[in-house]
Amino acid sequence: MLERATGFGEPGLRFVQQDIADFTSEQPFDVVFSNAALQWVPDHPALFRRVAQLVSESGELAVQMPANHDHPSHTIAADLAGDGAFARETNGYVRKIPVLRPEEYAAILHSLGFAEQTVQLRVYGHVLRSADDVVEWTRGTLLTDYAAHMSAATFARFLDEYRRRVLGELGDERPYFYAFKRVLLWGARRQAGGGQTVSSAPQPP
Ligand SMILES: C[S@@+](CC[C@H](N)C(=O)[O-])C[C@H]1O[C@@H](n2cnc3c(N)ncnc32)[C@H](O)[C@@H]1O
Repeated sequence: MLERATGFGEPGLRFVQQDIADFTSEQPFDVVFSNAALQWVPDHPALFRRVAQLVSESGELAVQMPANHDHPSHTIAADLAGDGAFARETNGYVRKIPVLRPEEYAAILHSLGFAEQTVQLRVYGHVLRSADDVVEWTRGTLLTDYAAHMSAATFARFLDEYRRRVLGELGDERPYFYAFKRVLLWGARRQAGGGQTVSSAPQPP
């Protein structure tokens, strides 16, 4: 991605390869944007505290993260990894999903001084040829982490068993409708009107 991005470089724009967990900058930014990446970084309360420091006093933060970890495509991988032969080979490694509930991000943004915010959980519907395509999907995302924790031969067995369980659970509906949840969040340091709203008593709906 970065190699291809180089061609879009121009004065004032550069691309760097760095771990998000270590990223710092002496200058804050007007906009900090992340698409489908922060789900790979642990400890979101601490991560957002650090990321918020990168946003200038009049700046904005916008983040999208997948939040589909309660779908069988994800729970089956965790069950399998924590189970029997695979757990023995990986010392019981099961990927911890750091993505929080939408309301927790709302509270985090508020506590970090974002005067305005929108946090949504949105369902994206993907019409796939069959449930087998769900396996191909997670193979390029979630399962890359399990592959990194196993030998190639063990991962081949893991994938076979994962496929068997996923197809057993999702059935043979064709096409298969893959409902995929994502958290979309946005925060602005300042309110558009410049002032701040303080509510003295909660209003019932
Ligand atoms: C689903 S891709 C999204 C890429 C891009 N943001 C986009 O919207 O097309 C997730 C990316 O996060 C990167 N990534 C994962 N962990 C990371 C980390 N700790 N620091 C920086 N990048 C990371 C991966 O290398 C991958 O390129």
